[in-house]
Parts: sequence; structure tokens; C-alpha cells
Amino acid sequence: MATILVTGGAGYIGSHTCVELLEAGYDVVVVDNLCNSSRESLRRVEELTGKKLTFYEADLLDREAMERIFDNERVDAVIHFAGLKAVGESVCKPLEYYHNNITGTLILCDCMRRHGVKSIVFSSSATVYGDPAIIPITEECPKGEITNPYGRTKGMLEQILTDLHTADPDWKVMLLRYFNPIGAHKSGRIGENPRGIPNNLLPYITQVAVGRLVCLGVFGNDYDTPDGTCVRDYIHVVDLANGHVKALAKMAGEQGGVWIYNLGTGVGYSVLDVINAFEEANDLKINYVFKERRAGDVPACYCDPSKAERELGWKARYGIREMCEDAWRWQKTNPKGYE
Ligand code: NAD
Ligand code: UFG
Repeated sequence: MATILVTGGAGYIGSHTCVELLEAGYDVVVVDNLCNSSRESLRRVEELTGKKLTFYEADLLDREAMERIFDNERVDAVIHFAGLKAVGESVCKPLEYYHNNITGTLILCDCMRRHGVKSIVFSSSATVYGDPAIIPITEECPKGEITNPYGRTKGMLEQILTDLHTADPDWKVMLLRYFNPIGAHKSGRIGENPRGIPNNLLPYITQVAVGRLVCLGVFGNDYDTPDGTCVRDYIHVVDLANGHVKALAKMAGEQGGVWIYNLGTGVGYSVLDVINAFEEANDLKINYVFKERRAGDVPACYCDPSKAERELGWKARYGIREMCEDAWRWQKTNPKGYE
């Protein structure tokens, strides 16, 4: 069976994807510098699957370390999650974001090329659509104006990887545009573990529920949406992880190319819908107040996921209730995350 190098595999989406890869029979090699994750997540991945993976604590920016990994391992394809992802922080630290996300990917791809590895699945984001021109968003929707350096690294990296395929058509490049991953593995053993105060909605809600935070601020209630709060396409992280397994299977049967897929459910929920769903699913109350709009938020962002269903045979299975139940199971059994 093939060996998959998973960059950023100790992180939120990466750890869930490692579980699905191991269960599908792949050998997994993880490289992560643990700047936003913990070794413990991978220990739990092994515990959940009863299988071993190989872990390298290394930085993508460390070219020698990356070369050594490719020298040691017979890698068939790469799933590339490693990157910094906090939108607000990226506005304050653009150089760090461009350096880590762009240079890190350049070094990774150079090592891949030198070792004859030419298959990469890349974590892109719905953020590349900006304020989307078409709703629901299809892959044909033009890329929009991106409002922050983090998002711009995604747009630039999509272009860089596409250029790589133009220069050498043997490259197989899969650009997966994630919508809003939430939830956790059913076991409650792995989940999202943000450092400091969460930027994203679901971890904020679960930390209010567990008593670590007092009150959720809902950013804006005067958008042109049914209830005035922003609408997003939330997707269960296990569904998202499975999309990567399907992506690898598709690439294995292809010669070379660039493929773009939206990974979402196709259903939009407002912030208030999510609060209500979380309260109902878990039978608790979430304290919230309305606040000013958050800079850079778009009113509505949800996709048409039918291309992934047609071409990858992938479709999200879990609905918002399970996303909320599973997010809460993780948080309540791990109130301080992996600490
Ligand atoms: P995460 O922070 O949990 O995981 C990213 C991992 O990459 C972390 O374990 C971190 O330690 C590692 N990392 C960062 N820079 C590194 C470097 N230079 N060398 C080695 N390791 C490094 O984030 P996540 O939510 O799992 O996201 C995974 C990917 O998906 C990211 O590229 C992110 O931008 C993208 N994405 C995430 C979302 C989301 O909402 N979570 C949405 C769209 C796209
Ligand atoms: N929100 C709140 N209060 C909070 C946090 C969020 O009201 O404390 C609202 C936001 O204003 C937004 C919605 O909840 O309307 C979702 O916000 P998130 O921060 O959870 O997610 P975003 O849609 O802003 O961003 C996510 C990823 C980005 C990615 C983007 C692409 O975090 O990495 O989707 O659409 F770029």
C-alpha cells in the first residue's frame, strides 16, 4: 500500500485525516513542527486505529531536515496541511505568514521534485472566492478579492502549484477548497485544540459551554441574510478527512493534472442557527451578545459540492447536529484540549 507524507498531520484536520488514512490501509508519515499542535494527538491517532505511523518533528522551512525525511521514506504522495491559519494574526504578521506558508511549500515541493514525488493534495480554502460572485459557490466561480495575508497565501499557493504542473505535466495537483470544518472524531479522543482565545465560532462556543469563556460575541446581526448573521457551510472534520482519502484514490488513477474541488455540505447555516443547533443537540444554553461586524467577514459562503460527488465519489455524511454533538463530546472530555 502507498505511503503518504502528511505535513501538519498533528493538527486538527491532519490528525483526523491520519485516522482515515490508516483505516484505509495507507502507511502514514507525518512531519509537523508542533507550532500549533501536540504530539499527543498522534499518540491518540495510533490508539484509535491500533496502527503505527512515523512521526518527524521538523519544520518545512528546514530544508536539510526535509531532505532527510525524503531520503529515509519512500513517499508516494503528499497531503500538505502544514501552515499558519489565523486570519487576524496574519494581518499583524504578514512576513511570518508568507514565509511559513509560501517558503515552506516551495521547500516541500523542491524536495518532492528531487525525490521524484509528484503528487500533492493541498489544503486550500473557500477564502479564495472572496465575497463570492455566485452562491452556492461552484469551482467555476471566479476567485475573489481576498481580504487578508493568510487567505492570500492560499490563493498564491494554488497558483504556484498550478504553475508547477504547467512546467512538468507529470505533476498531480489536487486543490481542495475547504469550507468550515468543525466537529471531532466520534470517540471524543481527538479534536480541535486552539491555542489561546479561539478565533473560530465552534471552539468559542464549546469553550463557553465548558465554562472556560463567559460569553460568545456574535459578530454582526445586520447582514443581508435571513436572520442578519453570517451564513457558512460547516462540514464535519471526519467528512473532510475522508475527502482526502477519495482525492488520493482519484489521483492514483490519473496521469497528471490539476483538479479543484469544493469540500462542503452545500448547506448554509447562520451563526444563530449554529448556536441553536448546538444548544439543542447538547441540551445546554450558550450565553451570547451581538457585537460589531468583524472586519473581512463575508455575509454568506456556502458551496455546491456536486463536482466532488461526481468526480471523487465523495459526499458529506454528517449533519449539523452530529457536528455539534461531536464537538461537544471532544470538549467536555478534554476541557483543556491535549494539555
Ligand atoms: P492546524 O493549525 O491545526 O494544523 C496545521 C499544522 O501545521 C499544525 O500542526 C502546525 O504545527 C503545523 N505547521 C505549521 N507550520 C509548519 C511548518 N513550517 N513546518 C511544520 N509544521 C507546520 O490547522 P488545521 O485547521 O488542521 O488546518 C490544516 C490546513 O487546512 C491549513 O493549511 C489550513 O490553512 C487549512 N484550512 C483550514 C481551515 C479551518 O477552518 N480549519 C479552513 C480552510 C483551510
Ligand atoms: N463568529 C462569531 N463569533 C466568534 C467567531 C466567529 O460571530 O467568536 C462568526 C464569524 O463572524 C463568521 C462565522 O462565525 O460569521 C464563522 O466564523 P469562523 O471564524 O469560524 O470561520 P470563517 O468563515 O471566518 O473562516 C473560516 C476559516 C478560515 C477560512 C475561511 C474560508 O477559519 O481559515 O473559513 O471561508 F479562510
